[in-house]
Amino acid sequence: MDPIVATPISESSNITDFVVTNRNGVKGLSEMGLKTLPKQYIQPVEERITVSNILPQESIPIIDMSNWDEQKVSESICDAAEKWGFFQIINHGVPIEVLENVQDATHRFFNLPAEEKRKFSKENSPSNSVRFGTSFSPEAEKALEWKDYLSMFYVSEDEASALWPSACKDQVLEYMRRSEPVIQRLLEALMKRINVKEINETKESLLMGSKRINLNYYPICPNPELTVGIGRHSDVSTLTILLQDDTGGLYVRGNNDSWVHVPPISGSLVINVGDALQIMSNGRYKSIEHRVVANGSKNRISVPIFVNPRPEDMIGPFPEVLAGGEKALYKQVLYSNYVRHFYKKPHDGKKTIEFAKI
Ligand code: OGA
Ligand code: NI
Repeated sequence: MDPIVATPISESSNITDFVVTNRNGVKGLSEMGLKTLPKQYIQPVEERITVSNILPQESIPIIDMSNWDEQKVSESICDAAEKWGFFQIINHGVPIEVLENVQDATHRFFNLPAEEKRKFSKENSPSNSVRFGTSFSPEAEKALEWKDYLSMFYVSEDEASALWPSACKDQVLEYMRRSEPVIQRLLEALMKRINVKEINETKESLLMGSKRINLNYYPICPNPELTVGIGRHSDVSTLTILLQDDTGGLYVRGNNDSWVHVPPISGSLVINVGDALQIMSNGRYKSIEHRVVANGSKNRISVPIFVNPRPEDMIGPFPEVLAGGEKALYKQVLYSNYVRHFYKKPHDGKKTIEFAKI
């Protein structure tokens, strides 16, 4: 009998099978010590970031939250959300151990053997709410993104304890619990400025009724300049709370065609406005395009919490925002339809929001 010979991975037609279909992930590919980037990952020139379009002297605001109840802290949060849509917070109250533990847990999950991670792929996962995958939307993309992820939709502690991977669930849940007061404070401040005086039950549902947490893994890449970690996009969330490691590589759209780096700051969290908040604030707060570059020498991880409306919520500009006679820029849309529209297409900058434009 002939020995069963694995098809060599260097035959690029099998790369997509190896990474996407067979769920070895781009981490599996990276660990094979490739010398050159497979063609499936080569991005068009206009999607690559080059030194000529980076603004090294610019930076997004850094806000100290130690005295979060002071007026000036709220003011800086709202100013940053209006002007930049992106900022970092320090002294936010989430203990550093909690952040370190969730980062360790992320490495622990991705370091599991491929067959363990595969148990959470689309075909095998015990639930639609837990998904291990690669790139963003491999079926729709012309060029793949150099990233693997584990995405977990939060329904309840009980469901999470039963279904999330044991390699990371306790640390991820603790991180979510501890970040809750931070989310509350940020949203309270942002709502005051747009005349929403109180976050009642309805508003709470629209602003933070559901959550999704992703563990992102960007493996070392043989030709980082030819590909992307994540392509240009804005998030579909209300707010995103992102923990990044010390690698760097997240860029935010500045003026025109320029990009501003978000430098890692130990213990900080990166906050950004998502499309849902842009819609609900009728454009007062703007979701900003961002992207992640690939790295040639280091594996990078990040852990975003997407704070979202519930899938069954209808979202549109808040009445309080329109009370003064301001014209609505967005119509009412079912949030799950909005999200479906986002996932159906490759990352394409700020285009998702056109779905809700009047
Ligand atoms: C995202 C994202 C940025 C990062 O997951 O939507 O933009 O730094 N992540 O990983
Ligand atoms: Ni994002």
